[in-house]
Amino acid sequence: MKNILVTGGAGFIGSNFIRYWLINHPEDKIVNLDVLTYAGNLENLKDIEKNPNYAFIKGDITDKETVDRAMKGIDTVVHFAAESHVDRSILEPEAFVRTNVLGTQVLLDAAREHNVKRFHHVSTDEVFGMIPLDREDRWTESSPYQPRSPYSASKAAADHLVRAYRVTYKVPVTISNCSNNIGPYQFPEKLVPLAITNLMEGKKVPIYGEGNQVREWLYVEDHNRAIDIILLKGSLGETYFIGPNHPEITNLRLVKKILKLMGKGEDMIEYVKDRPGHDQKYALDWGKIKGELEWEPENDLDASLQKTIDWYKVNEDWWRRVKSGKYREYYKKQYS
Ligand code: NAD
Ligand code: TYD
Repeated sequence: MKNILVTGGAGFIGSNFIRYWLINHPEDKIVNLDVLTYAGNLENLKDIEKNPNYAFIKGDITDKETVDRAMKGIDTVVHFAAESHVDRSILEPEAFVRTNVLGTQVLLDAAREHNVKRFHHVSTDEVFGMIPLDREDRWTESSPYQPRSPYSASKAAADHLVRAYRVTYKVPVTISNCSNNIGPYQFPEKLVPLAITNLMEGKKVPIYGEGNQVREWLYVEDHNRAIDIILLKGSLGETYFIGPNHPEITNLRLVKKILKLMGKGEDMIEYVKDRPGHDQKYALDWGKIKGELEWEPENDLDASLQKTIDWYKVNEDWWRRVKSGKYREYYKKQYS
C-alpha cells in the first residue's frame, strides 16, 4: 500500500491522475496538496471528494510548514503543481519562478527530510527548446536543455534541481518529460479546449501566426498510465520521455481536424498575432520507456480528440463556469 502526496491535484493532469489512481490502486491513500490558483478547481474531483482514501490540503508548495505537514506519513510524491501556461509566463513570469523552481526545491527538501521512497517529478518536452521545422530529428533523454520561454526555463530549472538532489543527497527521484496533453478538465486557455469551447460558443478559434508550428498530442490517461509504470518499474535517477505516436501535425491541421469533428467550417479560424519566441516544433523519441518499461500510448490522435470533444459537450456546465469570471479578464488581455 502506498501513501501518495500529489501536488497540483486540482489541475488538469493531476485531477485525472488522482481519479485514475483511486480506480486502479484502490488500496492506496492520496493526499492532494493544491493552492487552487486560477487553474485549480475542486469541481474536477467532485466525484471522489468523499472517498475515504482521498484527502485535500489547500496549501502552497513554496510554504515549508504546509509542505512539511503534508509530507507526514508519505512514501511517494507525484509532483504536478506548476504554473503551466506559456502565454501567461510571457505576461507575468514571476509566479512561474516561484512555484516551479522554489516550490520544487521546497518539496525536494521535505522529501529528503521525510525519507520518502520516491519523488516523481512531472515535466515537459518544452525544456529542450525547439526543433526547426525543416529538421526531422527528435529529442532523447540525453538531449541538451535549451528552454526558450519563462515557462520552459522555470521547468528546466526544476528538472535540474531534481537531478541535483539525486546526485547530492541521494533523493530517490524519477523524472518524466511529456508532450502536450489533451482530455477532460483541461483549462480552456490551452489550444484544444479553447478551440472546442469557442466553437461551442459560436466563436472563432485563434491561431497564432500561420499555425505552422508542430506539437505532439497525448491523451491524458496515457500520460498517467506512464507515470504509474515509472513508479512501479522505473530506475531511480532516470528520466523517461512520454509521447504519442501520430504523424507530425501542425497547429493549423490540428484545428482543422477539430473543426471537421465538430461539423464546423474553416471560416471559424481566426489568424492572430504570433506568440513571442514561439517554439517551432517539439518531437520526443520515447523509445526508452517503450523498451525498458513496456509503455505505449493506447489512444491515437483521432480517438483522443473525439473523446475530448465528447467530454466538453457533456460537461458544458463545467467549462462555462470556468470560462466566466477571472478567465475573461485574462482572455481580454491576451487576445485584444
Ligand atoms: P494546470 O495548470 O492545469 O494545474 C496546475 C495545478 O497546480 C493547479 O491545480 C494549481 O492550483 C496548482 N498549483 C499552482 N501553483 C501552486 C502552488 N504554488 N502550490 C500548490 N499548488 C499549485 O497544469 P497541468 O496542465 O495539469 O500540468 C501539470 C503538470 O504537468 C505541470 O507540472 C506541467 O508542467 C506538466 N505538463 C503539462 C503538460 C500539458 O500539456 N498540460 C504537458 C507536459 C507536462
Ligand atoms: P498551448 O496549448 O498553449 O501549449 P504549448 O504552448 O505548451 O505547446 O499551445 C499549443 C500550440 O498552439 C502552440 O504552438 C501555440 C498554439 N496556440 C494557438 O495557435 N492559439 C491559441 O489560442 C493558443 C492558446 C495556442
